Amino acid sequence: MSVLVTGGAGFIGSHTCVELLNAGEDIVILDNFSNSKPDVLDKIRTITGKDFKFYEVDLLDKDNVEKVFKENDIDTVIHFAGFKAVGESVEKPLMYYHNNITGTLILCEVMKAYGCKRIVFSSSATVYGSPKTVPIKEDFPLSTTNPYGTTKLMLERILSDLCVPDKDFCVTLLRYFNPIGAHESGLIGENPNGIPNNLMPYICQVAIRKLDCLNVFGNDYPTHDGTGVRDYIHVVDLAKGHLKALFNARKTTGVSVFNLGTGNGYSVLDIVKAFESANNIKIPYVIAPRRAGDIAECYADPTKAREVLGWKAEFDIERMCKDSWNYISKNN
Ligand code: UFG
Repeated sequence: MSVLVTGGAGFIGSHTCVELLNAGEDIVILDNFSNSKPDVLDKIRTITGKDFKFYEVDLLDKDNVEKVFKENDIDTVIHFAGFKAVGESVEKPLMYYHNNITGTLILCEVMKAYGCKRIVFSSSATVYGSPKTVPIKEDFPLSTTNPYGTTKLMLERILSDLCVPDKDFCVTLLRYFNPIGAHESGLIGENPNGIPNNLMPYICQVAIRKLDCLNVFGNDYPTHDGTGVRDYIHVVDLAKGHLKALFNARKTTGVSVFNLGTGNGYSVLDIVKAFESANNIKIPYVIAPRRAGDIAECYADPTKAREVLGWKAEFDIERMCKDSWNYISKNN
């Protein structure tokens, strides 16, 4: 029996593959390298000393997705593959709906044809829209503000519907908060092409002096210092959450939903200070206007994941900043 990891060469996917292999799981990776590089696969092998099968396949290519299921005995899918840039999704909604929704529908059709009844899905805290209160619990109202977020919410509903006619089907929806950091080896991490959209990759580009200074998007939010507050979580903690979710999925059916966050909120300026002191590098910044679509505050109540999965984030913000920098300083 193998676990198929779609998008296994990506940022969260690659770290999850490391944890799965370290735990002795047999995995098969599927990726089309749309936002990742082939050398990640050898890095996963180097870190773990383990091997796995890899398929360069796009989920929209049904014949080749079928080939993966025909050639392997897949009992669970951990599904990361999908486009994830908020701004790009506003510019290219059709591309996002087609890739993320149709790709997942094809995956589910093939799973059904091959009797694979378990899927762990990469969702996002973005499905909570602009929460009325924090910390956010799993039963909070859901809404979205951009096509990327809408694909996540639609897929949560589509996958949940699959459990209605098939009582053996098992869907685990993992709502990630803000993953940062990298594997301690410095071999795998996040290094987006072009100018980064997200805070930590941007700070890292300023740290290597590729970018002059950080734009802090707004300092007039109702937060402790006026800048936006988020729940940053070390990607290795997040990856370990997938392993716990897999173990739980093997003994349940139906839909389960979990927040994967630390429960701590840090502002943009908190992160700048934490990065500066963890790595002894100055990060110049200027206050810029608010970014459209941003919310003031977003952090998790991770109680359910602790109680049901036995999972809790362990790494602190200093470690996240150190590991992000360790990776970028070795890979630029
Ligand atoms: N920020 C800056 N300057 C930057 C980049 C970000 O000040 O150059 C601020 C943002 O305004 C926000 C915070 O840093 O207050 C975090 O921004 P990110 O872009 O890193 O992350 P977001 O919380 O906006 O988005 C993340 C994921 C999305 C997901 C969303 C909600 O990247 O995929 O969380 O879950 F949809």
